[in-house]
Amino acid sequence: MKFDIVTLFPNYFNSPIKESLLAKAIDKKVFNLNIVDLRSFSNLNHKQVDDKPYGGGAGMVMRADILAACVQSLKKRGSKVILLDPTGQTVTQKIALQLSKETHLILICGRYEGVDQRFKDKYVDTQLSIGDYVLNGGEVASLVVLETVARLLPGTIGNSDSLENESFSDRQGGIQLDYPHYTRPEVFEGISVPEILISGNHQKIEEWRQNKAREATEKLRPDLLKRV
Ligand SMILES: C[S@@+](CC[C@H](N)C(=O)[O-])C[C@H]1O[C@@H](n2cnc3c(N)ncnc32)[C@H](O)[C@@H]1O
Repeated sequence: MKFDIVTLFPNYFNSPIKESLLAKAIDKKVFNLNIVDLRSFSNLNHKQVDDKPYGGGAGMVMRADILAACVQSLKKRGSKVILLDPTGQTVTQKIALQLSKETHLILICGRYEGVDQRFKDKYVDTQLSIGDYVLNGGEVASLVVLETVARLLPGTIGNSDSLENESFSDRQGGIQLDYPHYTRPEVFEGISVPEILISGNHQKIEEWRQNKAREATEKLRPDLLKRV
């Protein structure tokens, strides 16, 4: 699988990628990541990529022609063009799973007031938001999409079993939160590890975990139980 991330700030990605498990997965060729500098597609003075909004008002808007030239150079058969945008569909684990089946994702990071509507209408397949709030740019949002999708690719995470029982994964009983986890010491500030976890009875442990996941979901995120 290949990811292209289109940005005005390519250096922004150096540390987050280098310092994460993603760098190892890239080394192992689990996926390919290409950071694309949008300014390199501008023939305007000072490599300008934005302009004043028609109709007046605050801020600048990213030009459709420069974004289009960039996407045209990256796009191949089967590519999916995703614009990070607060007005888009909110990213969920289900969407991440669907995206992990794609072969090529082009993630476009907006800046300023956003991008010209004509680019959205003509070139964007999906608009994704990471939540109901506004960031300065799409870079953080693109990293969220990259990481949620890339960690689902076989080979990114060492023990892929752990992916199946995570929060928001669709398992027996529907979409649920994770169950509680414990490790050493056995007693911490007077609180013991639940006895069942040191019983060695794997079937009972599994039942306990399923129940705890259900309890946590009912208490903290009852909305998830209604999702199909
Ligand atoms: C300052 S924002 C533009 C906000 C836009 N004028 C609005 O009110 O919806 C600049 C860029 O940041 C990115 N961005 C901001 N918030 C985001 C969010 N919640 N999810 C995804 N991308 C976001 C988008 O790429 C957006 O084009």
